[in-house]
Amino acid sequence: MTDVDADIEAARAEWLAGAPARSPEVEQARFAGGVPDADALELADINPFNPHLFREDRWHDHFARLRSEDPVHVNELASAGRYWSITTWDAIREAEADWRSFSSEPSIVLGPPIGTPLPKAIDQIGSFISMDPPEHERQRITVRRSTTPAANKLVEPLIRQRVGDVLDGLPVGNTFNWVQHVSVELTGMMLATLFGIPLEDRSKLLRWSDVATTIPEPGGLVESTAQRRAEFAEMLEYFDVLWEKRRAEPGDDLISMLAHGEATRHMTPLQQVGNLMLLIIGGNDTTRNTMSGSVFAFNEFPEQFAAMRADPTLVDNLPHEIIRWQTPLAYMRRTATADCEFRGRHIKRHDQVLLWYVSANRDATVFDDPDRFDLGRRNANRHLSFGTGIHYCMGARLAELQIKVLWEEILQRNMRVELQAAPTRTFSSFIHGYVDVPVRVIR
Ligand code: HEM
Repeated sequence: MTDVDADIEAARAEWLAGAPARSPEVEQARFAGGVPDADALELADINPFNPHLFREDRWHDHFARLRSEDPVHVNELASAGRYWSITTWDAIREAEADWRSFSSEPSIVLGPPIGTPLPKAIDQIGSFISMDPPEHERQRITVRRSTTPAANKLVEPLIRQRVGDVLDGLPVGNTFNWVQHVSVELTGMMLATLFGIPLEDRSKLLRWSDVATTIPEPGGLVESTAQRRAEFAEMLEYFDVLWEKRRAEPGDDLISMLAHGEATRHMTPLQQVGNLMLLIIGGNDTTRNTMSGSVFAFNEFPEQFAAMRADPTLVDNLPHEIIRWQTPLAYMRRTATADCEFRGRHIKRHDQVLLWYVSANRDATVFDDPDRFDLGRRNANRHLSFGTGIHYCMGARLAELQIKVLWEEILQRNMRVELQAAPTRTFSSFIHGYVDVPVRVIR
């Protein structure tokens, strides 16, 4: 058995030994009976970190009240301790710009209070999205060339070909789930290309992404934390084999870049997992939920689709407006590195701070009639969905390209996508998306 195999075995055993079962998402899942309307709550009781708010699509008035009455708002949960919600556009930009006070370490999602003992395996998993300089930049440089304008230009014909094949293969006249038939299909193929893996293995990446972002619940996509651990152990093994192959024969894919990168090639298998999950979730859940959200938006605002058919140049602004309106990642977490005063609130060292992009993108001081989906919106590209600071999304232009090509090809085929019933949404306060969007295609 080689050292790497021993590492894998140790990591696997550590991993299966168990992570804390009680996460803030699991704690808030107890609101199964439905969340009261914002105006029925005391201001202090408004708590936007609640997967039910998002699954029921009832987050709007909760954030609207916070933006106007308490834009830097404090809550407490047994599983997370005290945390702050920053809800206005300019306050989020201010916090993002100050990474020394508001660090991305140790994690970008709400978690247990700093200092909570975690199994070694969990502790080791890190990715450059949850690192501060200088290590952040050292690792980001390693994979940055995978999504440069030149790289996107090279991959555009392949994206267009695949979009065409998927659209031409859709059942006409029958109801089907747009999420599975289009959004997952297209982003899954894109991921396989970025990772340089066989197309038939793409379902593995998609599965691991879902396992990572879903709250375990009976009858759900993931039934238990133990099941989640077992699936991750499989992923560890899959990537270990790939890593060794690319170490020996590098290609132009993300694994080769990480396996040969100055800052990443000596990483342990568990350390690798962090960046691999970042690239899988970063490249998948986000774009896919924007593709699904665009169908919902055009059905909620059919005059916008009619306008785009009449003037196809409106498709240029579509990626900006739909990424603003959908905001596929509802928030990013920061952690206060010292006691500080922020907009009149006293934030303590180690407090968790949630930057709610989903609220900033509906801030009426920046966006007129913000709940309206409007392709004519001139400042749509001022949305905060990609972040604004040193961690600005590395795949932003690639995501915009995929969304634009999808709708260019739909227009090209004179298609209309008609919603047949209310969509089913993800059960998460972080991933803001859809599980099922039942549609029919009309040509
Ligand atoms: C609509 C689609 C997308 C959205 C809304 C989105 C959103 C985000 C956000 C909010 C961040 C963190 C910003 C911060 O912490 O300040 C981020 C970072 C990142 N995204 Fe995206 N993303 C999208 C698509 C993609 C794609 C297609 C990739 C490709 C692989 C990608 C790769 C990354 C990476 C690697 C980072 C970490 C950057 C860093 O820490 O320096 N994203 N993204």
